[in-house]
Amino acid sequence: MKKRIGVIGCGHWGKNYVRVFNEIDGSVVLGAFDSDAEKVAALGKKYPAMKTYASARDLFADGDIDAVVISTPATTHHQLVKQALAAGKPVLVEKPMTVDLEESEELQRSAAAAGSVLMVGHTFIYNNVIRRMKELMREPGFGKVYCLYADRTHLGLIRDDVNAVWDLAAHDVSIFMYLLDQSPRWVSAVGSSFLKAGREDLGFITLMFSNGVAANIRVSWLDANKVRQLVVVGSGARLVFDDLNNLEKLRIFEKGISVERPVDSFGEFQYQLRDGSIVSPNLVLSEPLKVQCQHFIDCLNGKCRPLTDGRSGADVVRVMCAIEQSIKHNGKPVEVSNA
Ligand SMILES: NC(=O)c1ccc[n+]([C@@H]2O[C@H](COP(=O)([O-])OP(=O)(O)OC[C@H]3O[C@@H](n4cnc5c(N)ncnc54)[C@H](O)[C@@H]3O)[C@@H](O)[C@H]2O)c1
Repeated sequence: MKKRIGVIGCGHWGKNYVRVFNEIDGSVVLGAFDSDAEKVAALGKKYPAMKTYASARDLFADGDIDAVVISTPATTHHQLVKQALAAGKPVLVEKPMTVDLEESEELQRSAAAAGSVLMVGHTFIYNNVIRRMKELMREPGFGKVYCLYADRTHLGLIRDDVNAVWDLAAHDVSIFMYLLDQSPRWVSAVGSSFLKAGREDLGFITLMFSNGVAANIRVSWLDANKVRQLVVVGSGARLVFDDLNNLEKLRIFEKGISVERPVDSFGEFQYQLRDGSIVSPNLVLSEPLKVQCQHFIDCLNGKCRPLTDGRSGADVVRVMCAIEQSIKHNGKPVEVSNA
């Protein structure tokens, strides 16, 4: 039996959910709702069998809907997920899970208490390049992790409800936490608002992990040069993910520097420079959103538990809230609280 999905929010990203859940074998989009009726009407031309509703509550109350996807602006996630869970529906909500830690924790607790699937759409965790990077980081040739950094710049897409940091850095925070299997211990960030007072359109963020591993994220809605790049530097190699390079999305620089051992009793160290090739590995590239949606269907069918579940979604929000606090205090380091 195909899982019958209801989609709330049919904007730029929600449209992709409607397409993908209709393409996957195990699911079909039974209905959709958007507060802008024209958005659903436009989609209805392509999918005439898709039901429409007068409200989100009507969609949640439809007994024929097996699970819902929430792809609306971030500030609406909490209320919509809460209603969906209360109506007994498993939920896939877009990132960020919410923009408030207590709200995320509340949703996570509700889903756990109800035994309901709650998954967060951190798409990059379903991206084969990121997955390959994680594997490579565990290979002996990579060595010790030194640092990570990411750039996510372009002219928009500008959001009304959240700043560029919540919109863009949430991706890199989730990626770094996935690659390192841990949360940062503290963060420090600055941001500036040029386009609208009080809403940062650029942010420079530093995250400190254990063992001195540092990460940096630059996000901006002000930069005409679109960049989507993520770098991990290790003692034996450097990995570069360029999401805009369709020919070589991932490059491995088999070069690095590490300290060998003290060579004498005066504490002098010998440094090992490692030179090697630049490799562009052959990767099977599947659409990350499709991998993510298939995983959601597998979770609904009881085959697995969400890789990006409510717990991990709330953990990303925990870090984002610490970043927000640091920006408010002009870069003051803010500790990331424990879950
Ligand atoms: N994972 C990713 O790579 C990725 C990419 C893009 C967007 N997103 C996320 O997806 C979400 C939606 O982003 P988007 O780019 O589609 O935005 P969008 O503005 O294009 O679309 C949002 C839609 O939600 C509708 N909407 C607003 N409030 C609503 C409500 N209360 N009930 C029902 N509909 C409502 C709007 O009318 C609009 O059509 C955001 O959380 C964003 O962060 C994720």
